[in-house]
Amino acid sequence: MKWTHRRGGVIARVRSFEEIAAEFSDLIELALDHFLCFGSGCPPKLAEAIRYATLGAGKRFRPILVLSAARACGGKIRLALPAACAVEMVHTYSLIHDDLPAMDNDDFRRGRPTCHRVFGEGLAILAGDALLARAFEVLATEISPPELAARCCATLARAAGPEELVGGQADDLTATGSLRRQSAGESCQWPPHVSGQSSFNQHQVQEDSADGGSTAELVRAIHRRKTASMMWASARLGGLVAEASAAFLAALETYGRKLGLAFQIVDDLLDAAGDPQKVGKKLRKDHDQGKLTYPAVFGVAASRQEATQLIEEACEAVSILGAGAGDLLSLAYFVLQRQK
Ligand code: IPE
Ligand code: IPE
Ligand code: MG
Ligand code: MG
Ligand code: MG
Repeated sequence: MKWTHRRGGVIARVRSFEEIAAEFSDLIELALDHFLCFGSGCPPKLAEAIRYATLGAGKRFRPILVLSAARACGGKIRLALPAACAVEMVHTYSLIHDDLPAMDNDDFRRGRPTCHRVFGEGLAILAGDALLARAFEVLATEISPPELAARCCATLARAAGPEELVGGQADDLTATGSLRRQSAGESCQWPPHVSGQSSFNQHQVQEDSADGGSTAELVRAIHRRKTASMMWASARLGGLVAEASAAFLAALETYGRKLGLAFQIVDDLLDAAGDPQKVGKKLRKDHDQGKLTYPAVFGVAASRQEATQLIEEACEAVSILGAGAGDLLSLAYFVLQRQK
């Protein structure tokens, strides 16, 4: 599907997500396969669990985003591949752990049984641990010069860490069941770090609304960290390996933050009304588990509206990249239209 995007009077022809994926998917798959070959110290069952969870499935949205961001800044795809793979490894680790019985307790992922269902909980936890470590080994050893490798490691570490992905996942757990508790008349006190009283999150909360500590703020704060973190990291990593200017890096980060929040809003909408065959995971679970989701807090129409606005803002943010940003616009609009 080809479509056009009108910005500042210029109509640019852009490729569809499927066309972009067709260019990059084999490269990404081969590189992941290569980076996930292990020496004799790795027990064969552990290697099998890591490779089962990572290879041969998944949309590869984040690595495609890394490569597209790099190209948009004039960088070479070959040089961006290690960063693309590192993000996919961190993402896959987060999925393995997200599916564990102690978290979302899911049996199905990427069209197949979850890692812990096949290999057991212990090995699945360790497969996730291994992917997280391998991601940083790949960044540190495959990117040069060392100063650039260090900046890439710092970006991915921050995005994967306690103030971002892991923090969002922790608050997701805490918030599970909170809507039910509220409707049962219990008062909910959100912790200061999501109600705008701590410094790291303050600017994000102020962007949205003035009434500190609302459920609306909490769901935004969770989604921003658990999912948007890997998106802004992907966009920034692509810019970093392309040695983009500070202005381009900032634009890519803003794009990734907005696109990432939209991505999780759509994930919530798909859970509520998607086609399980297409999505490749068990649906209608968020409601059953009492998850704090966008449709549960804002309703379906307002959720879609916010996602649409975020995608428009994401596209606006990368307009400074000029004609080279075509694929980034396409990836952004895919987020709104995706069925899987
Ligand atoms: C699923 O991510 C988890 C979320 C952060 C919403 P994806 O929808 O990108 O899953 P895969 O990688 O294609 O399996
Ligand atoms: C998961 O969010 C986010 C991360 C894995 C960090 P969800 O729990 O909604 O993702 P799915 O629906 O299981 O893919
Ligand atoms: Mg979850
Ligand atoms: Mg989940
Ligand atoms: Mg979900």
